[in-house]
Amino acid sequence: MADLKLEGVAKSYGDVQVLSDIDLTIASGEFIVFVGPSGCGKSTLLRMIAGLERISGGTLQIDGQRMNDIPPSQRGIAMVFQSYALYPHMTVRDNMAFALKIAGQSRDQIREATDRAGKMLQLTPYLDRLPKALSGGQRQRVAIGRAIVRDPKVYLFDEPLSNLDAALRVATRIEIAQLKASMPDRTMIYVTHDQTEAMTLADRIVVLAGGGIAQVGAPLELYERPVNEFVAQFIGSPAMNLLPGKVTAVGDMTTVALDGGGVAQVAIPTREGDQGMAVNLGVRPEDMRETDGDAIFEGQVDLTEALGEVTLLYFGTNQDSVPVIAKLPGIHTGLNGKTVRLTADPHALHLFHDGQSLLYRDGADLPPYRPRTTAAAGSVGGADGAASMPGRSDTGDDRIEGGTIKPEGPAR
Ligand SMILES: Nc1ncnc2c1ncn2[C@@H]1O[C@H](COP(=O)(O)OP(=O)(O)OP(=O)(O)O)[C@@H](O)[C@H]1O
Ligand SMILES: [Mg+2]
Repeated sequence: MADLKLEGVAKSYGDVQVLSDIDLTIASGEFIVFVGPSGCGKSTLLRMIAGLERISGGTLQIDGQRMNDIPPSQRGIAMVFQSYALYPHMTVRDNMAFALKIAGQSRDQIREATDRAGKMLQLTPYLDRLPKALSGGQRQRVAIGRAIVRDPKVYLFDEPLSNLDAALRVATRIEIAQLKASMPDRTMIYVTHDQTEAMTLADRIVVLAGGGIAQVGAPLELYERPVNEFVAQFIGSPAMNLLPGKVTAVGDMTTVALDGGGVAQVAIPTREGDQGMAVNLGVRPEDMRETDGDAIFEGQVDLTEALGEVTLLYFGTNQDSVPVIAKLPGIHTGLNGKTVRLTADPHALHLFHDGQSLLYRDGADLPPYRPRTTAAAGSVGGADGAASMPGRSDTGDDRIEGGTIKPEGPAR
């Protein structure tokens, strides 16, 4: 069991401030994933937790004990890196045993620990092989095995799967999920650039940006309730569209007239004084669907990308502005050059003012997050005349109690 508490943690290299004011509490047994743009400080934060990097300011506590000046070997932590760097002349078993030998453990203890790790990682048949006789995924599992044999309280992973090809990454990701499930009281912190890994592995995702934490939350909470435009566009792929407009009617349901000519009904409450407010309407590509009625967005399709499972429609690719993207389930052909009218469910829309979500304006009033479940799809393909009815929602009230189901990552 190990909980971590970071208070005002900061890191600078000389004059360059990389991270500041990092406040984060991680419960024992949690699986935390750090995401953020390249260079935002994910590895730095992980290395400070491990003790491989000095903490410039603030405090790090593990189980209530201040760790800032405790050496890495005494923190109860093991770290797995992207480059697994196994000893090439040692067998799998000896690679895993190395740290235990250094620590002076007995032959029996070492044998038991390596047997156990080998079994957990399905490496038993390979224990006497050299690393060169293993696949990339098996080598990465040996690297994880080197961490497991030490039985740390906290596991730190820095992009452990990014050297693997796509199929191995999926397989190893599932193995890591199973590994975590088999060690429910071990705390794991995992850095990745892979959205699917973040969405599927994390209990909570920490989005790092601009030297600080942009948002912390359950994966689907970040997807459905991003606190600002950065998180809105960082989580989800392709990124959320942001369409500028003005509030034209306030109330529990807000009406937004978009600069591009469309109109949107949004299930986010606004007040009297918000009339005329400049906003960005956030609409995810996958939430858009064709309509014959009122459209949020109408445009000529410049480009389509047919992926089989979905078809991506790009609008405005020749203009200076960021293209608008729609993602329609299934296969759609012959749309290039056609004008398409798109709408979305009012409950799936987001409103930002000065980059911040209007949902969080009255932070204290925000009800606890519960995932919005999706009713049967089938409204795509232009046949859904009723889809643009303001206020109509086939999803908004149909929620499942958070935690009672394992939320699935969004399709992408
Ligand atoms: N030893 C160092 N001296 C000076 N600057 C450093 C040092 N190590 C890292 N940095 C800077 O700190 C910032 C954060 O680096 P870090 O490696 O933590 O980023 P990251 O989020 O892990 O990025 P990536 O996703 O590319 O791995 C970067 O701007 C980097 O250039
Ligand atoms: Mg890094």
